[in-house]
Amino acid sequence: MSQPHVVHTIPDIRAAVLRARAEAGAKGVGSPRVAFVPTMGALHDGHIALVRRAREIADVVVVSIFVNPLQFGDPNDLEKYPRTLDADVAALDGAGADLVFAPSGEDMYPSGPPATRVTGGDVSMRFEGKTRRGHFDGVLTVVSKLFYIVQPDVAVFGQKDAQQVFLVKQMVRDLDMPLTIEVLDTVREKDGLAMSSRNRRLDARERTAALALFRALDAAASAADRGIDASLAAAQAALMGENGVELDYLAIIDPATFRPVDDGHRGAATVIIAAQVGATRLIDNETVYFG
Ligand code: PAF
Repeated sequence: MSQPHVVHTIPDIRAAVLRARAEAGAKGVGSPRVAFVPTMGALHDGHIALVRRAREIADVVVVSIFVNPLQFGDPNDLEKYPRTLDADVAALDGAGADLVFAPSGEDMYPSGPPATRVTGGDVSMRFEGKTRRGHFDGVLTVVSKLFYIVQPDVAVFGQKDAQQVFLVKQMVRDLDMPLTIEVLDTVREKDGLAMSSRNRRLDARERTAALALFRALDAAASAADRGIDASLAAAQAALMGENGVELDYLAIIDPATFRPVDDGHRGAATVIIAAQVGATRLIDNETVYFG
């Protein structure tokens, strides 16, 4: 495996994917499969795990790197988002990507913000969508556009963005998009912090404070045998007195509906959390079994 080939325009990536499919076919692969990993760059080991998984399940692997302005409500957040294309391509070296699609804003949206949007309905307005109005419409619009451009057989996403995963799967079902969605567990640092491109914005003190999110999830999981309310209370207790961590939401949702479960719930449920740590917004989640 070597460095991927980087292309910047929509016609070039379409042609490159067709060529790569044909080349895989010429090597004797019956129906070559294309796997796609959409990213906004600032790649970390969590992204690399997605690319490695894509390599395992497909013959051609495409990674996109595009900081999508449509999904940022706050212009400051968009401006501060790390853009590290050279380092990202170097990080992909040996991970198994064949092609990197790194378009500019003008390539993706030549007439400015598009009038046509994909919307995620009720779930897209809860939790992340409540604090970040329009965020998921921006995500779904760019993801559907990328799916039409790359035409993958499978796309690989990380469970860390649980609500995004739910909404992308819903979109694929609702619009009969001809691909499957593969989801990989969250990759964590040794001390439990979920890997995120945003972590690099944390200073040393904030990095320590950010661990409170993982501790809250852990506390919720440890109290699961006492039911949903006790589990939520344990998570809240774990956050008490955490200076520098401003909780946005903490909830336990049914993974089938992304709606909060009640205390009588039995079976799997996902504890979701979001908090502001200094100037950085972090999210995390963990699926827990309530017996
Ligand atoms: O998860 C992300 O990095 C982004 O939301 C995505 C899926 C690449 C769309 O811009």
